[in-house]
Amino acid sequence: MKEYQRWAEETLNKVHEKMDWVIEKNLDKIPYTTDENGSYDDKSAQDRSWNEDDGINWWTNGFWGGILWLLYQDTGKKSYAKIARLSEQKMKKCFDMFYGLHHDVGFMFLPTSVFDYRLTGNEDAKRTALRAANFLAGRFNPVGKFIRAWNDDPNVDRRGWAIIDCLFNISLLYWASDETNDPRFRQIAMMHADTVMEHFVRPDGSVRHIVEFNPLTGEMVRDYGGQGYERGSSWTRGQGWAIYGFVNSYINSGKQEYLDTAKKVAQYCIGNIPANGIIPVDFKQPEEPAWEDSCGACVIAGGLLEIAKCVPEVERETYTEPAVRILKAIAEKRADWSRECDAIVQNCTAAYHDKKHHFTMVYADYFFIEALYKLTGFGINIWQSEAKVDR
Ligand code: GLY
Repeated sequence: MKEYQRWAEETLNKVHEKMDWVIEKNLDKIPYTTDENGSYDDKSAQDRSWNEDDGINWWTNGFWGGILWLLYQDTGKKSYAKIARLSEQKMKKCFDMFYGLHHDVGFMFLPTSVFDYRLTGNEDAKRTALRAANFLAGRFNPVGKFIRAWNDDPNVDRRGWAIIDCLFNISLLYWASDETNDPRFRQIAMMHADTVMEHFVRPDGSVRHIVEFNPLTGEMVRDYGGQGYERGSSWTRGQGWAIYGFVNSYINSGKQEYLDTAKKVAQYCIGNIPANGIIPVDFKQPEEPAWEDSCGACVIAGGLLEIAKCVPEVERETYTEPAVRILKAIAEKRADWSRECDAIVQNCTAAYHDKKHHFTMVYADYFFIEALYKLTGFGINIWQSEAKVDR
């Protein structure tokens, strides 16, 4: 057993110890972040109007269930499956409300419904996931060959907006094609991924966050800095979505160019990862303030570990070493293993220019735990479809 595998197993023991009481304390919530007392909030209890992307429509709502399914597949604890399903049942309301829903149905229903179905064969979960896939496919712009990201707000016309994060949502489409044997979903996923390769990835391997297309002609209009420092900069979580997202598309489709692109973005990132493994919000941000994003760190690490699985043995260390460096930095310097806080991973940032920085985000915990399991070689990858899983 390699040293990093032993380390991951020891760290997972700490995860189990902490999550046992965290889950018990937050049974019927769908958390996003923790408050000043270290207690999880509850997105499912927020009273929002039917057309908002917050509350039950909030894009990270699938990650609480995702953590529970990750732990369930390891421990077999039935209570974890029960709590995960409770969150999924609540989330189904978003289809009836409809107007506030967005492209992040992949982030919402892969770690919940698809994970449930793949582990247990639950037909109701499959139906929910197919419903989400159909919704996502309906956001495809066939002229521009991209999936529309967000809905309009009163001041912004977003009909032509696509964002790098969506590379994760399209995993739902690959899965739907495998399940239904209907190629339409995969065709849409690949057309979107091709558009992203062409318009988001810069020659140096860095990626844009937001690209706007003309929704009528499909021509690219401009890009935006989005959650990063500025236009032309490199939002680190976005680099992570790109690395990991392109590997997923490679595994889901077999198209070599996707792996080559993932490696190109990875090389850019690896060249910018600080020696101490602490990841900034943007690789091109000023030295001060030194805002960090531990969540982006975990996504990048996960993507690098996925590339390591796809390359020859001699190349693996190139990707594994920086991934382990990042994860050890989280576990040793940015993790809360105490009972003071419900979340493990600290110092996450949603967007560089937000007023709030360095807080907890449930999907940071999800991607941290997922990456630890990758190091141990255990479990299925829900972002990569395997229609013929043994149940
Ligand atoms: N998908 C939005 C984010 O990463 O913050």
